[in-house]
Amino acid sequence: MDLAGKHLVLGLTGGIACYKSAELTRMLTQAGATVQVAMTEAATQFITPVTMQALSGHPVYTSQWDARIDNNMPHIDLSRRADAIVIAPASTDFIAKLANGLCDDLLSTLVVARDCPLLVVPAMNRQMWQNPATQRNVAQLRADGITVLGPDAGPQACGEIGDGRMLEPAAVYEAIVAFFQPKKLAGQRVLITAGPTFEPIDPVRGITNRSSGKMGFALARAAAQAGARVHLIAGPVSLATPWGVSREDVQTAQQMYDAVMATIADTDIFIAVAAVADWRATQVSDHKLKKAAGQPAPPLDFVENPDILASVAALPSPPYCVGFAAESGELGVNGEAKRRRKNVPLLIGNLGPKTFGKDDNEVVLFDTIGSTPLPRADKQSLARTLVDEIAQRVPGSLFA
Ligand SMILES: Cc1cc2nc3c(=O)[nH]c(=O)nc-3n(C[C@H](O)[C@H](O)[C@H](O)COP(=O)(O)O)c2cc1C
Repeated sequence: MDLAGKHLVLGLTGGIACYKSAELTRMLTQAGATVQVAMTEAATQFITPVTMQALSGHPVYTSQWDARIDNNMPHIDLSRRADAIVIAPASTDFIAKLANGLCDDLLSTLVVARDCPLLVVPAMNRQMWQNPATQRNVAQLRADGITVLGPDAGPQACGEIGDGRMLEPAAVYEAIVAFFQPKKLAGQRVLITAGPTFEPIDPVRGITNRSSGKMGFALARAAAQAGARVHLIAGPVSLATPWGVSREDVQTAQQMYDAVMATIADTDIFIAVAAVADWRATQVSDHKLKKAAGQPAPPLDFVENPDILASVAALPSPPYCVGFAAESGELGVNGEAKRRRKNVPLLIGNLGPKTFGKDDNEVVLFDTIGSTPLPRADKQSLARTLVDEIAQRVPGSLFA
């Protein structure tokens, strides 16, 4: 429930992208937000208030003369309980009105009369977006402290291709969730590894482990929501890239090591969540190893992989290093021992069999002061807690 307890006013203006706001409304309500929809008259040409009322679960307002509100002032009352107003889609016309403080209908009056933050999600033809007047107006919105999300680029409903598409509902949703998160890692460059590695034996087989990548991806999302610039290096997993995170896919431990070392100089915080294989096959066969009747299984020799976390921690000026330890028992002993061996200030220990592939996790923090167990929680909530814990420890952080 990313948005539990949040009250949002969702304003729709006249554009084809109104259809995306139906899906956005579902996502917001499913995340625990109450959504009060207000529409311009033009918006009602693209999607009906009936649909938006059914999806939001609340009556939709379209007119400032609507007498359903006791004092007949929907332009004041509708926003007073709101934590934010989101205009999606925001038409060229509405943006121009906003930039100039015009209020000749319910939605524009409501926005001018607001006492909460405003997020605007433009949606328009590429020429309308590039028009100097629109660019001037959008710059004015930003200067006025209004958050502008997007636009996206790509094919448009009119058949043209370019900037101006409304962001997809999932991206708007992520941006709204991120908007409400405290920016405890603002300005920090965070590098995260996640998932398993895959060490080939032959062209079709290899050795891997049961890490799903969920914890590392949740941390990447939480760090990005906390204002960090996040780069995620992922082993073979089938997870969507968190919004606002740059991602690089690798297979083997050596590739992960190389990718980490290529970006580590631009990193303030390194979080090694990936379950990296300790060994790889000494010889990778060019051809599939075949079984033959009466023949013994082929022998497998192993060579040690580079230790990514220890190598980063041993750099002359390392970033703040956070390690993860997936143990199968005796976490208290193994976690602190691993923290010392890797020489990192913070190590997060968990029990592999109790977390791999699951949506929740239970961890123990090991640092120079001692150990702190955290209660079992879903991985996204836990990731937010861990981001807070990391932000408190990073030297020079405002939250230290
Ligand atoms: C089929 C159709 C599609 C339109 N799509 C858009 C659009 O995507 N973005 C936009 O800014 N205006 C679009 N317009 C124009 C707006 O609907 C028009 O400027 C309207 O006055 C906006 O009113 P509002 O800002 O009060 O909602 C479209 C118009 C039509 C007829």
